[in-house]
Amino acid sequence: MARQRVGMSVTAWLVAGLWAAGVAPAGTNAAGTEPPGAVEPSVPPVRLELEPAQREALKLTMREHLAALEAIVSALGRQDYRAAADVAHLKLGFPKHHEAMQRERGAQLPKQYQDLALAHHQAAEALAEAIATKEMPPILRQLARTIQSCTACHRAYRL
Ligand code: HEC
Repeated sequence: MARQRVGMSVTAWLVAGLWAAGVAPAGTNAAGTEPPGAVEPSVPPVRLELEPAQREALKLTMREHLAALEAIVSALGRQDYRAAADVAHLKLGFPKHHEAMQRERGAQLPKQYQDLALAHHQAAEALAEAIATKEMPPILRQLARTIQSCTACHRAYRL
């Protein structure tokens, strides 16, 4: 696995780790064509046409997404399910979606990009629900789906 894009490699390694742990279901990427844990897309990614301020806003949101994943995994390690569910909902779910849209105000984003963003926030809301069960196997399955919704978009789009 080539580590060409530093910003993406952290997520990629996290996903690779989850695959190695055998928690991710098969064939779950957006296009349905990438092998499990694939980082480099088979189809060249589409470049988003954004103003400099919108690019910075998007990147800030992304770094916060990664920090949210860290906070969730960390809270799960402490068996603090309440904190983990709160982060999943507030920092990755629909409240975060609204904040991101505010920040990227005026950005012309392709319909497929918006669909991938919605699918990601939906996956995070489902993760918050799975965390409420306090059962690690379903929690890890939904965590993997949530991270797959990150990598699906990363394969399809670039700044
Ligand atoms: C709807 C699309 C989409 C989703 C969903 C998405 N990202 Fe991103 N992300 C992007 C794009 C586009 C970039 C810019 C990538 C590039 O140009 O190389 C990016 C970049 C990043 C970066 C680098 C930020 C920087 O400062 O350069 C990180 C970290 C990141 N994403 C983490 C995540 C995590 C974690 C998730 C899921 C919890 C996620 N992203 C979900 C589209 C998305």
